[in-house]
Amino acid sequence: MADPEAKNTLTVTDNRTGKTYDIPVESGTIRTMDLRQIKVSEDDFGLLGYDPGYLNTASCKSRVTYIDGDKGILRYRGYPIEQLAEQSTFLETAYLLIKGELPDSERLAAWTHNIRHHTMVHANLTKFMDGFRYDGHPMGILVGTVGALSTFYPDAKNIFDEEMRKLQVRRLIGKMPTLAAMSFRHSVGFPYVLPDNDLSYAGNFLSMMFKMTELKYRPDPILEKALDVLFILHADHEQNCSASAVRSVGSSRVDPYSALAAGCAALYGPLHGGANEAVIRMLERIGSVQNVPGFIKSVKEGEGRLMGFGHRVYKNYDPRAKIIKKIAFDVFEITGRNSLLDIALELEKIALEDDYFVDRKLYPNVDFYSGLIYQAMGFPLDMFPVLFAIGRTPGWLAQWTEHMLDEEQKIARPRQIYTGAGKRDYQPISERTPNASDERKIGMCRL
Ligand code: ACO
Repeated sequence: MADPEAKNTLTVTDNRTGKTYDIPVESGTIRTMDLRQIKVSEDDFGLLGYDPGYLNTASCKSRVTYIDGDKGILRYRGYPIEQLAEQSTFLETAYLLIKGELPDSERLAAWTHNIRHHTMVHANLTKFMDGFRYDGHPMGILVGTVGALSTFYPDAKNIFDEEMRKLQVRRLIGKMPTLAAMSFRHSVGFPYVLPDNDLSYAGNFLSMMFKMTELKYRPDPILEKALDVLFILHADHEQNCSASAVRSVGSSRVDPYSALAAGCAALYGPLHGGANEAVIRMLERIGSVQNVPGFIKSVKEGEGRLMGFGHRVYKNYDPRAKIIKKIAFDVFEITGRNSLLDIALELEKIALEDDYFVDRKLYPNVDFYSGLIYQAMGFPLDMFPVLFAIGRTPGWLAQWTEHMLDEEQKIARPRQIYTGAGKRDYQPISERTPNASDERKIGMCRL
């Protein structure tokens, strides 16, 4: 238990010099810049922190999302994710994330109206979309088209103009489902569907995805609600890979479309937003419940990972995975049971009892069941990360806005520990004699 009389400092003794330093501790954190004073000589640069993957480095102060990974707690602006999933809507949650408070009914109506009236995209953007290869991955298309929006809205570079920022926020939340659905329709060769602003946010997205020749697309209310909840569950997750990418790229003061394109690119990777796609491919590979023990054995022997399991922050059941598992059963009532569900349930059962997973605190994460739901709803596998991007857009924008207004922030620019060659003199090509190690380097370059 902490002594209330104790000083909020950390005393460090540098055994190289015998000098002692008092370093302030604030919110359980030291500023790594305070280490810089620790030097062995006047011309020493000073002590650095080395933290690949930012395992123990806070890059910002944030008021957006709170996670306690050991207890399995996730809150947006203080509100537990379970309450938001049960009682809120995606657009209301987006308002909460961006503005910090829940709206009253008048503000929610105005916000919803504003988002709905930014769902259309410029006709030139459809031509841009048409330029992608017919079988291009929709996530690659999304990365490109979100970035391309910056060319349609050059005023977006005025990032310190509050009204301009608000306008880009509305545009991005409004247009993301349109771009997402267009990327899918392009990849299957279907004509694009214009937004239907009479429908809900999720309902309109389903219409733009699946409408064919009917005059009006009417989404199934249970599927529409399930999708809305899935968007809420994905809306933010504090300083994850894609939010950090948005903050980092945004710190150069580029416009938000370019910063969010970086977020989409980060989300594309299989260790982040691509994991739910990887889960389905893994379940298909396993093929049947009987093959589950053999698959678990191969994971433990280091032949690949159990996708949808494990998390950098959660060392307990991901609270989103619990909610998603319940939604899965609601959705399967309408769509019929996804045949891969039994394999997933068996994998989860065995893994939660197995010492390998228990010792490493590996539990199902948000992606373990979400892919099964998306697949049952008729979304093709390569649309899964795109769905994640729609949900995550308000979170990225909340993180970006906070970063832009944070006076302590500077352009993101990490340090390195240089491990390359010392100074050497340039030799004319005729005088160079490659040795074996140079040959290996050349081989690496060719890779
Ligand atoms: N299957 C098997 N073993 C695993 C898994 C897994 N899914 N995840 C971690 N481990 C093992 C590692 O091999 C390592 O074991 P070791 O100590 O014997 O070497 C140990 O657990 C710690 O793993 P790290 O990779 O150090 O953990 P890290 O925090 O860096 O990685 C990550 C987190 C990337 C999510 C990881 O758990 C993983 O690859 N999971 C599968 C992919 C996935 O589901 N990603 C989605 C994350 S949620 C999201 O982005 C929305």
